[in-house]
Amino acid sequence: MRTFSSAWGVCRALRRRARRVSAFVPATVLLACLLAAALSGPSPAARRNARDEGMFAAAPQADYAGSAACRDCHEREYAHWSGGTKARFVRRADAPPPPGDPSGDVWRDIDWTRAPVDRERVLLVVGLRRRLAFVARGWTVFGQEYRLDTHTWQPRKGWRGQDYRMRCGPCHLTGVDRDGLAFRELGVGCEACHGPGGRHCASAAAADIGVPGRAGSDPALATCCRCHNDRNRHDRAIQGWAGPYHPL
Ligand code: HEC
Ligand code: HEC
Ligand code: HEC
Ligand code: HEC
Repeated sequence: MRTFSSAWGVCRALRRRARRVSAFVPATVLLACLLAAALSGPSPAARRNARDEGMFAAAPQADYAGSAACRDCHEREYAHWSGGTKARFVRRADAPPPPGDPSGDVWRDIDWTRAPVDRERVLLVVGLRRRLAFVARGWTVFGQEYRLDTHTWQPRKGWRGQDYRMRCGPCHLTGVDRDGLAFRELGVGCEACHGPGGRHCASAAAADIGVPGRAGSDPALATCCRCHNDRNRHDRAIQGWAGPYHPL
């Protein structure tokens, strides 16, 4: 069993390699490849391989089933996933408080009368541990975020006033479409790592679903680093991580 122990070093190497490749592939070759791919599409084997490496491209939204659809057949993995933060860190402000999960509810205790963010306009609340970001109806990210340690507001670093689906969706939503405007599920669902599972839900065949790392790489290399990389120090969560993703 491969481990995640050197995941963050691997993430960096992967990013360096990606930069080198993109700098040297002549644009014409790239265009020709894209055209060929658009005409023929990848073979089923190539598609599954790509999924197993966690590198699948955004698939049509209709191919995604949503994590709830996996529950009945994979109770163990579902229980592990739904207990982690990936399932809960993005939630609707108008959803009822999560039963027995106080961390999902902390934002309700903020003194909203003096907040720089208009509570009435909040569609989504993002974050559970260190800070909270807020997304407005209309999908823009508010420029101020809330620190849970000091209970103070601060200007958001980096992207501001951007469309949440487009800027944050690739790492915060599951099944975002090519334009980045439609998605299947809030948060990091099963299919963010396993690829679209609609067909597998119907067939229950192993051939219809990806397993990160199955094709031979360290799972961390391909799947985890897509979101946990050294940009914004998102690699911290997987530093020192060892073992499989789902507990055995
Ligand atoms: C109707 C039941 C059913 C549903 C729904 C279902 N699965 Fe499965 N899944 C199975 C069965 C049965 C297997 C074992 C197949 C085998 O070994 O031939 C399996 C295997 C898998 C595997 C391992 C594949 C492999 O190559 O070893 C993964 C990963 C997986 N499922 C993920 C999911 C995800 C994600 C969802 C939801 C999108 C899901 N499953 C929904 C029945 C289901
Ligand atoms: C490259 C992937 C990626 C992108 C893009 C991204 N995030 Fe994140 N985000 C993560 C990861 C990974 C974590 C969890 C690890 C961490 O907290 O460092 C996270 C966590 C967060 C948290 C919660 C931190 C906490 O304390 O619980 C907030 C808030 C957040 N992101 C806001 C945003 C916003 C707003 C955007 C878009 C403007 C965005 N992120 C874009 C990957 C990303
Ligand atoms: C699609 C983006 C994405 C992928 C892929 C991803 N993560 Fe995450 N992960 C997140 C985000 C976002 C959070 C933060 C949620 C929060 O705490 O606010 C997170 C949180 C975590 C945490 C914090 C604890 C917890 O309860 O979940 C760990 C550990 C972690 N991820 C490990 C992994 C590993 C290992 C992999 C690869 C097998 C992986 N992640 C793949 C986005 C991702
Ligand atoms: C952060 C990425 C990630 C998420 C989210 C995720 N998985 Fe997995 N899953 C993996 C990885 C990596 C493996 C390979 C074995 C391992 O590391 O645990 C795996 C393995 C599996 C397997 C095969 C187990 C085996 O050993 O044969 C099943 C079934 C599965 N996942 C179902 C699910 C279901 C259902 C969900 C959602 C409730 C889910 N996974 C969410 C990363 C993920």
